[in-house]
Amino acid sequence: MKFGYFDDEAKEYVITTPKTPLPWINYLGSQDFFGLFSNTAGGYDFYKDAKLLRLTRYRYNNCPLDNGGRYYYIKDGDTIWNPGWQPTQTPLDSYSCRHGLGYSVITGSKNGVEAKLEAFVPVGDSCEINRITLTNDSDVTKTLDLFSMVEFCLWNAEDDSTNFQRNFSTGEVEVIGSTIYHKTEYRERRNHYAVYSVNKPIEGFDTSRDAFVGVYNGFANPEAVLEGKSRNSVAHGWALVGSHHLKVTLTPGACEDFVFVLGYCENPVDQKFEAPGIINKKPADELLAKYKTSAQVDAALDDLHNYWNKLLSTYRVDTEDERLNRLVNVWNQYQCMVTFNMSRSASYYESGMGRGMGFRDSCQDLLGFVHLIPERARERIIDIANTQFEDGSTYHQYQPLTKKGNAAIGGGFNDDPLWLIACVSAYIRETGDFSILDEKCAFDSDFSKAVPLMEHLDRSFCYTTKNRGPHKLPLIGRADWNDCLNLNCFSAEPGESFQITGPSEGPVAESVFIAGMYVKYGKEYSDLLRATGNTARADEVDMLVADMTAAIEDAGWDGEWFVRAYDANSNPVGSHVCEEGQIYIEPQGMCVMAGVGVDNGKAQKALDSVKERLDTKYGIVLLQPAYTKYHLELGEISSYPPGYKENAGIFCHNNPWIACAEAVMGHGDRAFEVFKKTCPVYLEEISEIHRTEPYVYCQMVAGCDAPSHGEGKNSWLTGTAAWTFTCISQYLLGIQPTLQGLQLNPCIPHDMKGYKLDRTYRGTTYHITFDNAAGVEKGVKSVTVDGAPIEGNILPLTDKKEVEVVVTMG
Ligand code: BGC
Repeated sequence: MKFGYFDDEAKEYVITTPKTPLPWINYLGSQDFFGLFSNTAGGYDFYKDAKLLRLTRYRYNNCPLDNGGRYYYIKDGDTIWNPGWQPTQTPLDSYSCRHGLGYSVITGSKNGVEAKLEAFVPVGDSCEINRITLTNDSDVTKTLDLFSMVEFCLWNAEDDSTNFQRNFSTGEVEVIGSTIYHKTEYRERRNHYAVYSVNKPIEGFDTSRDAFVGVYNGFANPEAVLEGKSRNSVAHGWALVGSHHLKVTLTPGACEDFVFVLGYCENPVDQKFEAPGIINKKPADELLAKYKTSAQVDAALDDLHNYWNKLLSTYRVDTEDERLNRLVNVWNQYQCMVTFNMSRSASYYESGMGRGMGFRDSCQDLLGFVHLIPERARERIIDIANTQFEDGSTYHQYQPLTKKGNAAIGGGFNDDPLWLIACVSAYIRETGDFSILDEKCAFDSDFSKAVPLMEHLDRSFCYTTKNRGPHKLPLIGRADWNDCLNLNCFSAEPGESFQITGPSEGPVAESVFIAGMYVKYGKEYSDLLRATGNTARADEVDMLVADMTAAIEDAGWDGEWFVRAYDANSNPVGSHVCEEGQIYIEPQGMCVMAGVGVDNGKAQKALDSVKERLDTKYGIVLLQPAYTKYHLELGEISSYPPGYKENAGIFCHNNPWIACAEAVMGHGDRAFEVFKKTCPVYLEEISEIHRTEPYVYCQMVAGCDAPSHGEGKNSWLTGTAAWTFTCISQYLLGIQPTLQGLQLNPCIPHDMKGYKLDRTYRGTTYHITFDNAAGVEKGVKSVTVDGAPIEGNILPLTDKKEVEVVVTMG
């Protein structure tokens, strides 16, 4: 069943009912200021850091779901309704929500009045614009009351939802004309405030939630709206809202619009006040002056559209499959931008309070983003490297605002260091900018110890080289990519964190997955060394990589597939000798991508085993058989009921590793089959089963052991976005950035007869035609550039702006 449709021309997903299986959301904002925006206008805003600088309040896991947002109430006689249905839930005569790139438009109508809510964050400004347009489609004059409402968060979202004995006495506001200023804690240690304003004169306002809503009412029936009259409340302490009341009279056919702005403003510390206790409103005045008129809003929306059109022109494919086109050209790249911005901090499933920026997460997110805005990727790499420890290990997370590592979680996730090599390599392959390797980066944010980024890469590589276990495989530490495989944890107490209980430096438990990473990214590291003239070190790295390959082929090979790990007692995990969890997906994908066993049949066997033992109609499950018992020696992975999360769920993040591995083996038919199974645009028709948004990937789909097989969970913030884009753009459609230039190496279904692709790379736009009249799955017979044949399949770099390329497969 579908709950909407793709409008490809507009690059929008159009939701046609407010009652989607779960809230289907969008992200507003691209750099500093962000809003989460659901199909019923739920969600919240924050500046830079979802935990520390949250502007508006949101209640996670509430009942009803999706509680809190920017709500606009229309009172038309006795009928009170919202254009997005929530929170009054008054049945609407019509409804649609268009989620587009960085904006959403909700249109609802009731009793002859149409209300359109356009929401977006303008490029370069720290605010969310909400333009409400009311149209009288009836044949009588309508006099309407329009009430706005947001609920302010007291900035630190965690504190805001826990520390009520203090919080109920701190809230402060100012109200001048149509503008509400939220200034809690501004009088002491903050130099920022929020502003919520409308561009027309108001009838009244409210800033106290108790006054506006009523102590025992809810957002569905605020007392002020029921009575059609604001209280003009100026809040002191308790809970703060921003609400405007406007009166509108519309003759038949008439319409009027209102521009609401919710913004973040900051003052220099010595210019905080314009009078004792009165905030300096200059930054707010300047911001609001930019969005006073509808024409200004139109211009800002145009800027936003242009911004996205330009970004998406970097990689554009035209195949016969419209679903594939919409995924690659729009939604997958869009999601890559969102995951780059958010890491795993703020979604409808990530509360924005916990995780900050993940080290491995951010490095991987960059793989799918680097082609869009390389300069931002560069900055991010340096931020990440600055948090690394001197011994090459890393914090597992850092806070985006302070850019410092999170000491509470610490380090010891032993895959983390190698991801740094992965993202630096991706950045240089995209840009050719080797100068990044000379950038001085700190250790643990201590800049007195800064060394060039190249040295950081070496520390990463050496960390894994030095920290190996009895089988010469890398020690796993607290966990590797699979956060839930906690082999040194042995937790028997409820409430203990699986990730940080037990020693991080367990000297025995090993990971074959990290070994695969070491081979893959060790090779990429060696390429960088050679390209920068350090042949001696490159030779050493190659030898170490060969040693690790041998260790994998020896202790890491189970006979039909790659072993997953060795536990703290040196027993294998993911082996036929295990009772449960005999085969895992991760080492099969990573080792084959790294080239291990490709020449001797092991890679092929491993992928055959994946197909035979892990494949389902909704994707490849993480392991089989699922753990039915809690295994003390394995940790969190066995804490989930069978079929969920890492315990045999379909983890969308690692499915593309198998598709990439199939491409390494030249199997285009199978690679696409794997790719499509978890791909949301192909699941639109079963949205009642899949439940999450059909335009973005979710982290996990319930596996075949779960009663709800096929049900997606935790949409948006997942490394799946970057890996599927890497998979489809590089491994399958075959545009691979290398240090020397773009390599063309497609791997496609045999019946895909050809496609066209535009790729802008290092200043040149390549218009590439792939011809597969031969009906092969892989193999490039010839390449011509502007009509002239070239040797091999790497496009020579050129000063030309546009180049025509023809690739003949065969
Ligand atoms: C985490 C990743 C991790 C994955 C698998 C995600 O929730 O963000 O860092 O690799 O789960 O456990």
